[in-house]
Amino acid sequence: MAYVVTPPCIGCKITYCAAACPVEAFREGENYLLIDPDICIHCNDCLRECPVNAIFPEDEVPVVWKEWIGINARESKKLPIIRDLKTPLLDKQCNIREL
Ligand code: F3S
Repeated sequence: MAYVVTPPCIGCKITYCAAACPVEAFREGENYLLIDPDICIHCNDCLRECPVNAIFPEDEVPVVWKEWIGINARESKKLPIIRDLKTPLLDKQCNIREL
Protein backbone atom coordinates (compact mmCIF):
# COMPACT_ATOMS: atom_id res chain seq x y z
CA MET A 1 0.00 0.00 0.00
CA ALA A 2 1.47 3.32 -1.06
CA TYR A 3 1.68 6.52 0.87
CA VAL A 4 -0.16 9.63 -0.24
CA VAL A 5 0.65 13.35 -0.08
CA THR A 6 -2.41 15.43 0.89
CA PRO A 7 -3.36 19.17 0.88
CA PRO A 8 -1.40 20.29 3.97
CA CYS A 9 1.66 20.07 1.70
CA ILE A 10 0.26 22.75 -0.62
CA GLY A 11 2.27 25.93 -0.29
CA CYS A 12 4.58 24.37 2.30
CA LYS A 13 6.64 22.05 0.09
CA ILE A 14 9.16 21.45 2.83
CA THR A 15 10.84 18.54 0.95
CA TYR A 16 12.19 16.71 4.03
CA CYS A 17 10.11 13.78 2.78
CA ALA A 18 11.81 13.59 -0.60
CA ALA A 19 15.26 13.73 0.95
CA ALA A 20 14.33 10.84 3.27
CA CYS A 21 12.86 8.61 0.56
CA PRO A 22 15.19 5.67 -0.24
CA VAL A 23 13.57 4.87 -3.60
CA GLU A 24 13.02 8.31 -5.21
CA ALA A 25 9.22 8.00 -5.14
CA PHE A 26 8.56 11.74 -4.77
CA ARG A 27 7.60 13.99 -7.67
CA GLU A 28 7.79 17.77 -7.69
CA GLY A 29 4.85 19.99 -8.53
CA GLU A 30 4.91 23.78 -8.45
CA ASN A 31 3.81 24.14 -4.83
CA TYR A 32 3.49 20.58 -3.50
CA LEU A 33 4.97 17.13 -3.89
CA LEU A 34 3.29 13.85 -4.83
CA ILE A 35 4.24 10.19 -4.39
CA ASP A 36 4.31 7.74 -7.27
CA PRO A 37 2.49 4.72 -5.78
CA ASP A 38 4.22 2.36 -8.17
CA ILE A 39 7.60 3.33 -6.71
CA CYS A 40 6.71 3.79 -3.01
CA ILE A 41 7.77 0.88 -0.80
CA HIS A 42 5.79 2.19 2.24
CA CYS A 43 8.90 2.20 4.42
CA ASN A 44 7.59 4.97 6.70
CA ASP A 45 10.67 7.20 6.36
CA CYS A 46 8.79 10.14 4.81
CA LEU A 47 5.91 9.98 7.27
CA ARG A 48 8.18 10.84 10.15
CA GLU A 49 9.77 13.75 8.33
CA CYS A 50 6.81 15.94 7.36
CA PRO A 51 6.31 18.80 9.89
CA VAL A 52 2.73 19.44 8.71
CA ASN A 53 1.61 15.79 8.68
CA ALA A 54 0.70 15.84 4.99
CA ILE A 55 1.55 12.19 4.31
CA PHE A 56 -0.72 9.23 5.07
CA PRO A 57 -0.82 5.53 4.27
CA GLU A 58 -3.44 5.05 1.57
CA ASP A 59 -5.95 3.40 3.92
CA GLU A 60 -5.61 6.18 6.49
CA VAL A 61 -6.13 9.20 4.23
CA PRO A 62 -8.85 11.37 5.84
CA VAL A 63 -12.19 11.08 4.01
CA VAL A 64 -12.11 14.72 2.85
CA TRP A 65 -8.82 14.08 1.06
CA LYS A 66 -9.56 10.67 -0.48
CA GLU A 67 -9.41 12.10 -4.00
CA TRP A 68 -5.71 12.73 -3.39
CA ILE A 69 -5.07 9.00 -3.69
CA GLY A 70 -5.97 9.30 -7.37
CA ILE A 71 -4.24 12.65 -7.75
CA ASN A 72 -0.96 11.15 -6.49
CA ALA A 73 -1.36 8.10 -8.75
CA ARG A 74 -2.18 10.09 -11.91
CA GLU A 75 -0.34 13.37 -11.61
CA SER A 76 2.90 11.94 -10.20
CA LYS A 77 3.47 10.32 -13.59
CA LYS A 78 3.66 13.77 -15.22
CA LEU A 79 6.12 15.37 -12.80
CA PRO A 80 9.90 15.20 -12.37
CA ILE A 81 11.63 13.23 -9.62
CA ILE A 82 12.72 15.18 -6.55
CA ARG A 83 15.34 13.44 -4.43
CA ASP A 84 17.10 16.26 -2.58
CA LEU A 85 16.22 18.78 0.06
CA LYS A 86 15.26 22.20 -1.30
CA THR A 87 14.52 25.51 0.38
CA PRO A 88 10.97 25.13 1.76
CA LEU A 89 8.32 27.17 -0.06
CA LEU A 90 6.27 28.19 3.02
CA ASP A 91 4.01 30.52 1.03
CA LYS A 92 0.72 32.05 2.19
CA GLN A 93 -1.18 28.79 1.64
CA CYS A 94 1.03 27.01 4.15
CA ASN A 95 -0.18 26.71 7.73
CA ILE A 96 3.27 27.18 9.21
CA ARG A 97 5.53 30.10 8.41
CA GLU A 98 8.82 28.90 9.76
CA LEU A 99 10.49 25.64 10.66
FE1 F3S B 1 5.17 18.45 1.62
FE2 F3S B 1 5.66 17.62 4.07
FE3 F3S B 1 7.10 16.76 2.08
S1 F3S B 1 5.13 19.70 3.46
S2 F3S B 1 7.12 18.43 0.61
S3 F3S B 1 4.91 16.38 2.35
S4 F3S B 1 7.86 17.24 4.12
